[in-house]
Amino acid sequence: MAYPFQITSLEQYHRDYKRSAEDPEGFWAEVAENFLWRKKWDRVLNWNFTEPKVEWFGGAKLNITENAIDRHLATMRDKPAIIWEPNNPEERTRVVTYERLHKRVCQFAQVLKNNGVKKGDRVCIYMGMVPELAYAVLGCARIGAIHSVIFGGFSARSIADRLDDAQAEYIVTCDGAYRGAKDIPLKSLIDDALIGNKTVKRVIVYTRTRTPVSMIKGRDVWWEDEMEHAESQVEKNGVVSFPAEEMDAEDPLFILYTSGSTGKPKGVVHSTAGYMLWTTYTFVNVFQYKPGDIHFCTADIGWITGHSYIVYGPLCAGATSVMFEGIPTWPDAGRFWDIIDKHQVNILYTAPTAIRSLMGFGHEPLEGKHLASLKVLGTVGEPINEEAWHWYDENIGKKQCPVVDTWWQTETGGTLISNLAGVTPEKPSWASLPMPGIIPLLVNEDGSEVTEKDEDGVMKGNLCIAAPWPGILRTTYGDHERCRTNYFATYPGMYFTGDGALKDDQGNYRITGRVDDVLNVSGHRIGTAEVENAINMHSGVVESAVVGYPHDIKGQGIYAFVIYNHAHINDELTRQDIQQTVTRIIGPIAKPDKIQFVHGLPKTRSGKIMRRILRKIAEADFDHLGDISTLLDPGVVEEIKNGRI
Ligand code: WTA
Repeated sequence: MAYPFQITSLEQYHRDYKRSAEDPEGFWAEVAENFLWRKKWDRVLNWNFTEPKVEWFGGAKLNITENAIDRHLATMRDKPAIIWEPNNPEERTRVVTYERLHKRVCQFAQVLKNNGVKKGDRVCIYMGMVPELAYAVLGCARIGAIHSVIFGGFSARSIADRLDDAQAEYIVTCDGAYRGAKDIPLKSLIDDALIGNKTVKRVIVYTRTRTPVSMIKGRDVWWEDEMEHAESQVEKNGVVSFPAEEMDAEDPLFILYTSGSTGKPKGVVHSTAGYMLWTTYTFVNVFQYKPGDIHFCTADIGWITGHSYIVYGPLCAGATSVMFEGIPTWPDAGRFWDIIDKHQVNILYTAPTAIRSLMGFGHEPLEGKHLASLKVLGTVGEPINEEAWHWYDENIGKKQCPVVDTWWQTETGGTLISNLAGVTPEKPSWASLPMPGIIPLLVNEDGSEVTEKDEDGVMKGNLCIAAPWPGILRTTYGDHERCRTNYFATYPGMYFTGDGALKDDQGNYRITGRVDDVLNVSGHRIGTAEVENAINMHSGVVESAVVGYPHDIKGQGIYAFVIYNHAHINDELTRQDIQQTVTRIIGPIAKPDKIQFVHGLPKTRSGKIMRRILRKIAEADFDHLGDISTLLDPGVVEEIKNGRI
């Protein structure tokens, strides 16, 4: 499969960028010609950011799985679509060809149908990183059900909230999941999440770890039994088929929950056609994918990166995608490097937190590893510091591989700002130039465009995007107003990213991190309000305030200031109790790294917590606390400073 929309030179990048800005409809219609449509569009783009309303390819009909699978069958039947690497290196690798993927997805679509799932129904998927997770996602897309994948690190309570918000009636899960030396009891967590739930009708359970599970009559069924039954329904005389549901371009493809600065996580909704175009276009261009290349994205499919760059982008491009069940440091810190050599990986796409953690193991895990197949390296999820960038470039890429620093978000569907491997210039720790179709703007707090450079010769502001691209979120599930206020109301007429950024004279962008109350811990987005709510649920806690602080490996750590109601507490035990509470309410990923007990929090006279001061204390930057005289009780600052841990 060749890609007529692949940008192969810097000149072409500038040309395509210009054209996409001047004539977005013509530009994207041309890209869209490279996909399979049941019916073409009536209108390429219809939008306003006031409601907001964004429609790409309105009136078109398609099914994304016909683009990700069926259309490749004529020429690439035997090509590996997914190469699955198990947690335990002793276990056998599984290679799923496009033909096999087609069969399994058809079978699973039939399973969903047999269990009563219809177009538009919400199916929650809570599984480990096994190929069956990809079959489940694609099976949903095939029958037009809306999938909502939940990361395995979330607690039963978080799952329950998401099930409830999405009004999900179906769940696909595993008995358990392997992650390094751990065995996570997924089905048991689902059982806890379902206590009191009234909407879920069916739970389909895939056997992975053989952990004992409870199976409730009338509700729980085994994946294996269901698939066996479906096989004879979809396969007749050796021919496999399951008719794909005809979807509107704007029909929702999936919901993915993500944290914001306020309240509970929101369900970001992506559309069918626009998301398909955006993930495929960015996959091919950013990584400069060439037919035959082996692409290894180390993310979990529970996050957007896995959706876009393990499943949809690569498969729509007819690529080979490596899916890894385990973690980078088990059985040892050479695991990624072994996988690269074993499968002759050409493109490695991972997170700065993984790079920093592996850097910490020194050179030994790299001994005897060739890494000669690598052509392109990528990073995503958080700002990458220069030290990690250079370590990656020198030790993994041997200075032979372009490094792409891809900036994007759950809400953007795919990459918005990144260099294109070997085609546009790279600049360590800068995401660099916008993709065609992306019009970034730096604005001041008041919404005016930043026009002045600061003393370092760069412009600095809050990052907005001025016009829609095909992969932009369409709504937040069940609450469109929330989508408007979160993303389109801060700076009217623009999509606000929540990130701060710098811009240099060449038009390169460097993302400096969130400017709202969202933390980025090991590349995972966590709202401070969410963590505070969880801490406050502990019976002894009166009040708490959570901020981020620089952490060598995780990028940001979670620092909690807690007012506790007992005079004599055993600090260490209480800390553990609070951590346990957060683990129960949100999941282990949100556990505070540091908990400091305080008698008061710095508040304004109107009662607002001054997080800026707490952030400075957490960073041990005592010289820049700013004016504290306006605080209700300036004395608390001294106490907090002295008690810093
Ligand atoms: C941050 C992950 C700097 C950013 C795809 C964004 C980055 C948030 C980069 C989205 C990058 C992501 N450089 N920061 N290359 N990539 N971020 O929704 O703060 O999990 O807003 O999407 O991660 O996180 P999310």
